Amino acid sequence: MGVIAIDGPAGVGKSTIARQVAAKLGWAYLDSGAMYRVLAHAARQAGVGGSDEAALAALAASLDLVLEPGGRVLLDGQDVSEAIRTPEVTALVSKVAAVGAVRQVMVAHQRRFAERNERVVAEGRDIGTVVFPDADLKIFLDAEPSERARRRLAQAGEVPDGADVAAVEADLAVRDHRDRTRAVAPLAQATDAERIDTSQMTLREVFDAVWVRVRSAVRP
Ligand code: DC
Repeated sequence: MGVIAIDGPAGVGKSTIARQVAAKLGWAYLDSGAMYRVLAHAARQAGVGGSDEAALAALAASLDLVLEPGGRVLLDGQDVSEAIRTPEVTALVSKVAAVGAVRQVMVAHQRRFAERNERVVAEGRDIGTVVFPDADLKIFLDAEPSERARRRLAQAGEVPDGADVAAVEADLAVRDHRDRTRAVAPLAQATDAERIDTSQMTLREVFDAVWVRVRSAVRP
């Protein structure tokens, strides 16, 4: 099995980079955040609130969730790839992801995905620390909050219409705080991960910096 783990905070560009690296290597791409988003989406549909941990855990255990190696996400056989990116789902997801029993289910999903696909570029918050501690390469992408807010704003869909950089940055700060301070699998850099501060870098430069490390860690 081959695993490249790319972790980092919201809005840093993990998905774009992980997807590009996976495509160039011909490996599967695992967007672990999408799994938590599917659960948040399902919780909204079922009327389950972010603080009802027992109901969230039960929902997670019964979820018919499929992540396709190319990145498409299915819930009960329906493509929900876009529905899980709405501001409403984004607002709920870090609460859902803080529930220990939910994380157990999702981590098991993620490991099964890697076993099935054998070679995987996985991105998230705990991929190098918890999910795949023996990954062949661990990268921690980081950037200043204002820069992450700008990047997020440049992507359509996830932020409410009319939001400005300050509003998006404030929202990111709330999610960052929840992701970093939760009791189970908080966002943290693995001790053996390489941190790349991308604040001053273009996407292309980030890709190149990651690719150099990929080339020396795995044989494409
Ligand atoms: O990367 P993203 O914005 O799609 O992640 C959605 C949420 O899921 C975010 O609040 C952090 C959480 N998450 C997590 O706790 N662990 C992961 N491995 C991936 C995402």
